[in-house]
Amino acid sequence: MKTVIITGGAGFIGSHVVRLFVSKYPQYRIVNLDLLTYAGNLENLRDVENAPNYLFEKADITDPVALDRIFSQYQPQGVIHLAAESHVDRSISNPVAFVETNVLGTVHLLNTARKHWGNDLSDKRFYHVSTDEVYGSLGDEGLFTEETSYDPRSPYSASKAASDHFVRAWYHTYHLPVVLSNCSNNYGPNHFPEKLIPLIINNIRTNKPLPVYGDGQNVRDWLWVKDHAAAIDVIFHKGRVGETYNIGGNNEWKNLDLVQQMCDIMDDLLGRPAGSSRSLITFVKDRPGHDRRYAIDSSKLQNELGWAPTVKSGEGFRETARWYLENEKWLEHVISGTYQQYYAEQYQ
Ligand code: NAD
Ligand code: DAU
Repeated sequence: MKTVIITGGAGFIGSHVVRLFVSKYPQYRIVNLDLLTYAGNLENLRDVENAPNYLFEKADITDPVALDRIFSQYQPQGVIHLAAESHVDRSISNPVAFVETNVLGTVHLLNTARKHWGNDLSDKRFYHVSTDEVYGSLGDEGLFTEETSYDPRSPYSASKAASDHFVRAWYHTYHLPVVLSNCSNNYGPNHFPEKLIPLIINNIRTNKPLPVYGDGQNVRDWLWVKDHAAAIDVIFHKGRVGETYNIGGNNEWKNLDLVQQMCDIMDDLLGRPAGSSRSLITFVKDRPGHDRRYAIDSSKLQNELGWAPTVKSGEGFRETARWYLENEKWLEHVISGTYQQYYAEQYQ
């Protein structure tokens, strides 16, 4: 039986990757390695937690002793590394946590894999999941390709860029069989409501102001989270060692247009008069160093490995809103406790 460790499997994207791998590959043993920070939630995985090929290990990727024990115990052939501090605004208020988890944690994971795999590398694979934010900010035109120079501007993107460099360094220096991907903004079920789309859904639900940073004209390329999980599956199995693949939704939205779209969907689903939620939109002070536009050229992945996004934005946004309304208990659990304190500090 092949064993794959998925780090960050209790988080937003990680939980969709765990679910996909547990159900699609019954012949694999999937070990979810997660510290369960504020962003990690085992409720995301209720439907797979009793599967015979699923195991959970609560551990910190910055703890080399714990990693050593887990690698000794499970002898994995593969690692899919998603564990990270992932929210840009939090990286602005607490950058050190991002260096510790995203940089140091990745280096400890690379070191542990190298130590345990030794020279027996033929059936091994270390997959590092990264972000398009490492490429910096685009003007009105152009797309990020795999050749775009790194130009990170937030503590989050700088920490992810550093981790990407370390992964490539382990490939070139120690021949660790790595593969990387850099993805655009994900959306869908189980997204923590500090991020734009679930925050807007939750605030509409509870009639709170909808905070739009700056002029609302910043652009993001939105990808349905299950399409990202499908891309991770294909890259993990078929991506060429040492290569990087960009993943994107080909689905650019200005923030204000997206928020208005979510308002209209929510009005419809909640049976409120058309246009009523738009009155909650409130322009607030801009995020420092706010990247203007991200857009991804994913043609390498599409041409080489045959992946393509499957969900159209209209359907995906509505499906997401519906999921949150049908899972209010999940939402209530997630927004209790520390999230309330974070929200008060971020939005006063
Ligand atoms: P998330 O914040 O929802 O989940 C992160 C997970 O990592 C949580 O379960 C958390 O408990 C775990 N974790 C954090 N620190 C840890 C530590 N020290 N040890 C072990 N586990 C730890 O993040 P996400 O949005 O699902 O993102 C997952 C990955 O994908 C990240 O690496 C992120 O940079 C990348 N990414 C995210 C997006 C996006 O739109 N969300 C887009 C591109 C790439
Ligand atoms: O591009 C990939 C990245 O997408 C991932 O690497 C990150 O982990 C993920 O968090 C996401 O980063 P963003 O900063 O783009 O996502 P966020 O949802 O925080 O913000 C999306 C846009 O909406 C951004 O331009 C900031 C804006 N925004 C965000 C919040 C939380 C607002 O206008 N108001 C808000 O309250």
